[in-house]
Amino acid sequence: MSRFLVVVWALVLALQIVHGNNAPKEQFELHEGNCSRALIGDMVFLDHVQLSRLPLVGRNTTTSWYGDQKIYCILALGGKQTSKDSTVLIKEGGINHTFVTLEFHSQKNHGLEYNVQVFGKLPKK
Ligand SMILES: *[C@@H]1O[C@H](CO)[C@@H](O)[C@H](O)[C@H]1NC(C)=O
Ligand SMILES: *[C@@H]1O[C@H](CO)[C@@H](O)[C@H](O)[C@H]1NC(C)=O
Ligand SMILES: *[C@@H]1O[C@H](CO)[C@@H](O)[C@H](O)[C@H]1NC(C)=O
Repeated sequence: MSRFLVVVWALVLALQIVHGNNAPKEQFELHEGNCSRALIGDMVFLDHVQLSRLPLVGRNTTTSWYGDQKIYCILALGGKQTSKDSTVLIKEGGINHTFVTLEFHSQKNHGLEYNVQVFGKLPKK
């Protein structure tokens, strides 16, 4: 019986992992890739994304970077005025690509603020 449960649990976990890789993850903040090794000299893009709050509606925006470097770390960290319910997701490109588009959503009645940093290296010949 308990072995059966372990098998079912393992299957559920495996399905979640497979599913999670397909759907873009929407989350409060983003730390993608090898950020612990990120070097300031590799920063290819720095952006401050801010939307003021509007009554009754949520607001969306995007920011994009296209370049020559292959991305190895993406950070999108909430600023002081960020509502905890706002989210960010990778819409296009990302780790191992030479471009990325991030999409931001705020909740109704809330604005959002994010600091975005992208780190990349020129691919080795
Ligand atoms: C923002 O994005 C959300 C989720 O994709 C969507 O439901 C909503 O209509 C969008 N709002 C605006 C103002 O575009
Ligand atoms: C992150 O670092 C690990 C260990 O060095 C490496 O195997 C992996 O390819 C790296 N990932 C990226 C996206 O550079
Ligand atoms: C990026 O490339 C590295 C090295 O080829 C690989 O280890 C890693 O899994 C890739 N990451 C993504 C998110 O594709």
